[in-house]
Amino acid sequence: MKFFIDTADLTEIRSLAGSGLLDGVTTNPSLIAKNGGVFAKVIAEICEIIPGPVSAEVAGTEYDQIMAEAKVLRKIAGNVCIKVPLTPDGLRACKHLSNDGTMVNVTLCFSAAQALLAAKSGASFISPFVGRVDDIGWDGMQLISDIVDIYNNYDFKTEVLVASVRGPNHVIEAAKMGAHVATLPPAVLRSLFNHPLTDKGLATFLADWAKTGQSIV
Ligand code: G3P
Repeated sequence: MKFFIDTADLTEIRSLAGSGLLDGVTTNPSLIAKNGGVFAKVIAEICEIIPGPVSAEVAGTEYDQIMAEAKVLRKIAGNVCIKVPLTPDGLRACKHLSNDGTMVNVTLCFSAAQALLAAKSGASFISPFVGRVDDIGWDGMQLISDIVDIYNNYDFKTEVLVASVRGPNHVIEAAKMGAHVATLPPAVLRSLFNHPLTDKGLATFLADWAKTGQSIV
């Protein structure tokens, strides 16, 4: 399973890049607004830090505007992945861009039917928002399971990118289902390391090692 990080915070991205665990980055207009900075410059910096796909979302909603913005964004770096909304115009742009060899991430997916349309439009990634589905009392992980099943039935090349992840359980459940990618807020990625028995065991080993009076180097 690939891990993307869901942030536009350059400090966080730099700090987590050293973990060797990051395969890509996703941003959205809300994350850009939250962190500030000139959009194109922020994306360019992220693309330098992380060589994998970096999602940059268009702000246009009509086909011509989406295509015009995509042309600007994809010039920023070779690893820019154009993020488009799951609308008729967004999917039309997705088809066109994908045919041209541009990576496209289709965002704001909340149903298996929408995911099927994105795959047929040649998307590189489909982004179902599990947390937001859970927030309205539906089952976000059932949505992932349905999409993975459908894509496997037809051998679609579109990768399932689990988005709106709220905690480690979303990541584990998605991995069990065979989702290709999870995009994680930095705090969720860090939380994956944690286990109280690891902390307790390490404290014991270090205390016992100190008793030996030895050093390795
Ligand atoms: O980038 C899309 C997605 O991950 C947004 O998550 O937490 O705003 O629902 P959230």
